[in-house]
Amino acid sequence: GEREAETSRNTALRINGARLQQRIAQLAEIGAIDGGGCARLALTDADRAGRDQVCDWMRELGLAVTVDAIGNVVGVRAGRQSGAAVMTGSHIDTVRTGGRFDGNYGVLAGLEVIATLNDAGIVTEHPLAVAFFTNEEGARFAPDMMGSLVYTGALPLGEALATRGIDGTTVGEELQRIAYAGPAPVPAAAPRAFIELHVEQGPVLDREGTQIGVVESVQGISWTEIEILGTSNHAGTTPMALRRDAGWVAGAIIHFVRELAQELGGNQVATVGRIEFFPNLVNVVPNRAVLTVDLRNTDEARLQMAEARLAAHLDALRDAEKVDIATRSLARFAPVPFAAQMCDRIEHHARTQGLSTRRMPSGAGHDAQMLAAVCPTAMIFVPSVDGVSHNVREHTHPEHIEAGANVLLAVLCELAGA
Ligand code: GLV
Ligand code: MN
Ligand code: MN
Ligand code: MN
Repeated sequence: GEREAETSRNTALRINGARLQQRIAQLAEIGAIDGGGCARLALTDADRAGRDQVCDWMRELGLAVTVDAIGNVVGVRAGRQSGAAVMTGSHIDTVRTGGRFDGNYGVLAGLEVIATLNDAGIVTEHPLAVAFFTNEEGARFAPDMMGSLVYTGALPLGEALATRGIDGTTVGEELQRIAYAGPAPVPAAAPRAFIELHVEQGPVLDREGTQIGVVESVQGISWTEIEILGTSNHAGTTPMALRRDAGWVAGAIIHFVRELAQELGGNQVATVGRIEFFPNLVNVVPNRAVLTVDLRNTDEARLQMAEARLAAHLDALRDAEKVDIATRSLARFAPVPFAAQMCDRIEHHARTQGLSTRRMPSGAGHDAQMLAAVCPTAMIFVPSVDGVSHNVREHTHPEHIEAGANVLLAVLCELAGA
């Protein structure tokens, strides 16, 4: 049909892998940390510097750049028609001990697609947009994927701006401070379609030697902050039976969630990633502990079961140690299925380019799962060496970086009509 005719014109087009690697390396210099990784927590000075760099590149490539009220940045390349753009993108914020590919790869591959179309003098039927969304990681301000949540209308702007982070500042204050509280309104009009290219961040593709992951869904995420209040007392004089030890209860929760995940099996995972003790001294029984629990499952019913089991265990600990326990939800996302016809297109173009593919769920959260609520959406994964991410050792081989970007190019050309 007409789409076939449009597609076939540019199937020989390829991105410039060296140019893409150059941008990845240059962005990784901003907030660089030992071991080759990056620390650009959302809305810090390092995040601002990274944003400025990517905005400069967008303008050099001729994109019309807008910044919205939650700091999302969208660069648009005009098409023959006006109207909704076919969008790609991801995020450039990182965890404190992040790699250089998580998020950044998807954004910079989007720019590489634009550069390739510019070089070839190709104008698409529909506009093409490359976006990076604010605070995808959620490491400083929860929930994660905040920018895409606000972009799609799933989180009110005021609530996002009022969010207080781990250092006591708010999203709104920090957006103002780094000059990324922009004029574009949110929620925004839905794109025509959304494709996010990302490193897998897990071991599946690397282990089986598959080049391209066709991401069909994102697993459900449940983040809870737990505060335990007990009684401080002398470590030497307080008999064990008389303690209300917030620290012990915290340790019991860590132990419990590991066992819970093992018992539930399947793809249930459970993590305590942040913990604080008060007063945090060698000879004082802690009177307060604060920790986070991250539970994930591809199955919503099983995720709810894990949450219920945790809640019941907190009740038991409350009784056993006579402590107070309060919980606060930091983030809660049900599993998200992606659009089947988008997955088919990714698979088709990967195979046409001679690449091996496998269909898979995503273990990590991504902005695409928010976009999926407003437009046809899917994701492309490339292998992560040893499945390592959220670690400075995160790595993806150059040929896989190039292959993923070429699949992105082909899918965007088809969707935008090139
Ligand atoms: C966010 O990227 C997450 O999956 O934790
Ligand atoms: Mn990411
Ligand atoms: Mn991440
Ligand atoms: Mn993520």
